[in-house]
Amino acid sequence: MNSGGMGGMDHSKMNMGGNKEESTSENTKTSELSATVLTGKSLTLKAQVSNQEIAPGVTLPVWTFNNSVPGPELRIKQGEMVNINLVNELPDPVSIHWHGVPLPNDMDGIPGVTQNAVQPGESFVYKFKADVPGTYWYHSHQDSANQLDRGLYGSFIVEDSENEKVDRDYSLILDEWNSKGTMDMDEVNMSDNSMEGMDHSQMNMSEESNTMDMKHDMSMYDLFTINGKSSSLVSNLNVKEGEKVRIRLTNAGFISHQIHLHGHEFRITATDGQPVNKPGIVKESVIAIAPGERYDIEFEANNPGQWYIEDHGDNAAVKGMKALITYEGISENSDKANDLEALPVVDMTQYGENGQRTFSLEQKYTLDYTMNLNTELKNNKTVYTINGATFPETEAIKVKKGDTVKVKMINNSKSDDHPMHLHGHFFQVLSKNGKAITGAPLMKDTLNLKPGEEYVVAFKADNEGNWMFHCHDLHHAASGMVTQLLYTDYKTDFVPDPKAGNKPE
Ligand code: C2O
Ligand code: CU
Repeated sequence: MNSGGMGGMDHSKMNMGGNKEESTSENTKTSELSATVLTGKSLTLKAQVSNQEIAPGVTLPVWTFNNSVPGPELRIKQGEMVNINLVNELPDPVSIHWHGVPLPNDMDGIPGVTQNAVQPGESFVYKFKADVPGTYWYHSHQDSANQLDRGLYGSFIVEDSENEKVDRDYSLILDEWNSKGTMDMDEVNMSDNSMEGMDHSQMNMSEESNTMDMKHDMSMYDLFTINGKSSSLVSNLNVKEGEKVRIRLTNAGFISHQIHLHGHEFRITATDGQPVNKPGIVKESVIAIAPGERYDIEFEANNPGQWYIEDHGDNAAVKGMKALITYEGISENSDKANDLEALPVVDMTQYGENGQRTFSLEQKYTLDYTMNLNTELKNNKTVYTINGATFPETEAIKVKKGDTVKVKMINNSKSDDHPMHLHGHFFQVLSKNGKAITGAPLMKDTLNLKPGEEYVVAFKADNEGNWMFHCHDLHHAASGMVTQLLYTDYKTDFVPDPKAGNKPE
């Protein structure tokens, strides 16, 4: 399985600890990555401190699930029980949120809302049925701007027995890193392969987030990665001529990426775990994938050679975010990166074919809610507001089970994107900038709003609980852009412990 450049990935690091009750690292037929297939037995995820070579010669202190970033790619069959024992070996409290997965509220992993943050040395069991097939991901939801930045995330795939007929099934998680931590530039010799003598305590990023103005300077992220690796360390994607290939893209970072596949026509078969109705052929266009979003693409390997799948943009760091699709028997790379080229972006509001829609713009809704998103200065600090307020002062959306809810979101920020994510529910996108969506019904759990954009979405309140609704630029969430969807008839036994240090955003 390691035939063809796993780019120095150390598989021993993905060993789940060898505990008998666990299903250890095992390959699916279709994935060359070391996927862990959950078989209903319990699996332990250890939140651990580690180091990882992120780019050639750049080893950074990371926080991991099971000693690698990303954590193990978890796969489970639709209808089976997930049973994950999170063991916290970190110096800080932690949690796991199952992004996009419609699950019972008490399994949602939100410190102070659905559980107490798991303290160092303690553990928590996540147990739920994987009902809806698709591409999801898991990540810490404790102090998450900081903890995701350090690497606490992984891919979570619910397999649909009928729709899985591909020969290769790759999962690529996109992210951005700061090659120097918070150290002064002159302390780092980037050409020095060993990071010996580096004082890791100086790289404490939570300190940084406390002292830095939260109007975050995204230029601090100078290394873009695929599955925790940049440039030549990124694993090749091996294919054979004639094979059907699926690539699941997930953005775990805080910056949108423009992903371009070379040499092939492809279809976007799903977004945020939800299938696209009759997806059309995409060619010479990029997929804009915002923080938190997922896109599944499929293509036929019908063009022997070596081809890039790569990020496009004018940021110098896009260079590192490329993987090479390599056909068996071909050892030379004849492809050229063209990451600076501006290509059209696939417009998901017009993609695919019309199909069964659950909601319409015209129908009556139990609740009509407007979210004005903005960037504001309060007490000399940049904050990110919903209707002028920052969390926890934001007004919650209050519903009862069975309600239909329409939400209008407007991005009033001058230059900030806001990828808005609702927990526990999928919503249907009804309109963009006042124009109804054409194409396939667009179901999402994360929707990116660029400056000036306005979207209307709708969903059914069919999953009782207390759910987060927030910006997935987690720096924005940490500085206010969070609200909640509260079911007024929902009762929980959970009582937050004020000593747990819960940081839900
Ligand atoms: Cu991906 Cu509230 O999270
Ligand atoms: Cu935002």
